[in-house]
Amino acid sequence: MLLVSPGSGRPGPPVGRGVASVASYVVDRQRCRAGHERRPAVARYDSDMTTSLLDEPVPFDPGAPDAADDAVAGPARRERAGRNRRRKRRLVDQPRVPITLELTGFAHGGYAIGRAPDGRVVFASYGIPGERVVAEITGEAPTYLEATVVQVLEASPHRVTAPCRYFGAGYGQQCGGCQLQHIAYPEQLRLKTEVVREQLRRIGKFEDAPVLPMLGQDPPWAYRNHMRFTVRRDGDVGFMQRGTHRFLKIEECAIALPSVNRALAAVQGRTFGTRQLSVRVGEHTEDELVQPTLQWRPGRTRRLRSGQPFLREELLGQHYRVSASAFFQVNTRQAEVLVAYALDRLLERQPNVVVDAYSGVGTFAAQLAAHVDQVITIEAQTAAGDDAEANLGQFKNVTRVVGDVAHVLPGLEPAPDALVIDPPRAGVERAVLEGIIESPTRRVVYVSCEPATLARDLRILVDAGFQLLEVQPVDMFPQTQHIECVAVLDRRDPRIYGRE
Ligand SMILES: C[S@@+](CC[C@H](N)C(=O)[O-])C[C@H]1O[C@@H](n2cnc3c(N)ncnc32)[C@H](O)[C@@H]1O
Repeated sequence: MLLVSPGSGRPGPPVGRGVASVASYVVDRQRCRAGHERRPAVARYDSDMTTSLLDEPVPFDPGAPDAADDAVAGPARRERAGRNRRRKRRLVDQPRVPITLELTGFAHGGYAIGRAPDGRVVFASYGIPGERVVAEITGEAPTYLEATVVQVLEASPHRVTAPCRYFGAGYGQQCGGCQLQHIAYPEQLRLKTEVVREQLRRIGKFEDAPVLPMLGQDPPWAYRNHMRFTVRRDGDVGFMQRGTHRFLKIEECAIALPSVNRALAAVQGRTFGTRQLSVRVGEHTEDELVQPTLQWRPGRTRRLRSGQPFLREELLGQHYRVSASAFFQVNTRQAEVLVAYALDRLLERQPNVVVDAYSGVGTFAAQLAAHVDQVITIEAQTAAGDDAEANLGQFKNVTRVVGDVAHVLPGLEPAPDALVIDPPRAGVERAVLEGIIESPTRRVVYVSCEPATLARDLRILVDAGFQLLEVQPVDMFPQTQHIECVAVLDRRDPRIYGRE
């Protein structure tokens, strides 16, 4: 029997307690509640990319029951999801009882899937399909359980040693921002591609969706240009672990750019008067944006500049101004891959008028303007709209509209013959989809950071006469469960294409 600690590729010590079944779990918890044992909660943290749209993980597991499907599925499933949500108990600060699991699948959210002795699906953090593990239950709902792998009995060949000391480090010391550091990168890409395929199958009802292998990053580390930290009263800087009120002091982050880590080191223990700290850097420009304006404790240390109103960054040769509150892709190098891909697929159809909806600071529009007659950007946030004005002012063929896409797009003049849409995680509102369907748009390039809502929206577009040509996942968030995709659709009616 091979024993491996989760989060490392090395053999690890056994958990030291007997392996219990779920049946004995309740009894054991009662015993523990009576004061025999208390263990701290599993650590997680909240960041701009860790909250899930879905209340339940959605499995990539041909054998998993539909009970684990998400809130955008059918009414029966929605009702079941609601029941699970109401009755789900997060077992924070509760004693844990281990069970043995065979992990057979992989779910949206970065969980490996097993089945408990009582038949419930178990979503296990820090596992890999094909492994036999000991896991401790951290949450329970009527139809599923959540667990954390605490010991690996039979390791997957894809298990690797996580380089980050905060990953899978043990209760109360895990950052939780990365979910996949224990999986070799090629396998991460394969599993996340399969999650996209599975979401399209389960939610979008696409039996054999044209999903291409995910485009990875080399190296898949040191990429984040934006981190949000918590600052404690004593000046310590770190993360609040997701789902808990626990603070974890962080000296460095393996997925952050070196310049973000240098900023963190400069601030660590030296500031006061704020609870939040946002550090953004321009990977290509070395510009910095640190918010809020910091106050410093006495001492002779380098004082980081802070309180800048905006950052300057460059993508594919274009310069962008990004205000402190505006959205910008957190992985500059992969953003170039994503934007170049989306642009290629848009321009393939030689459009004249292109709408860039949910346009942010004008990321796509600035790249498109030189290639088409007219670009119309639609963005609701004023700060991003102001940035777009600065970024797009040089292009006389770009019209900017500040407003809600749902109000602006339907009946827009001139009507677009191609669209790029890049909505937030919640996806596209029905009114926007109807606006697209009623427009003469021949091609839609849909950029999405949530495969579940992408699948829902693609089904509506396909049912209304579009054809799904391909879905290209791009790994914007290596080492984490987050998934970005570019979906390409054409209107099926050849009379509208004009040319084939
Ligand atoms: C995922 S970001 C994409 C931004 C841009 N395409 C980029 O790649 O940098 C989504 C953008 O949509 C904007 N947004 C959200 N809801 C909107 C709405 N209903 N109408 C217009 N813009 C919206 C947000 O402010 C944000 O800038």
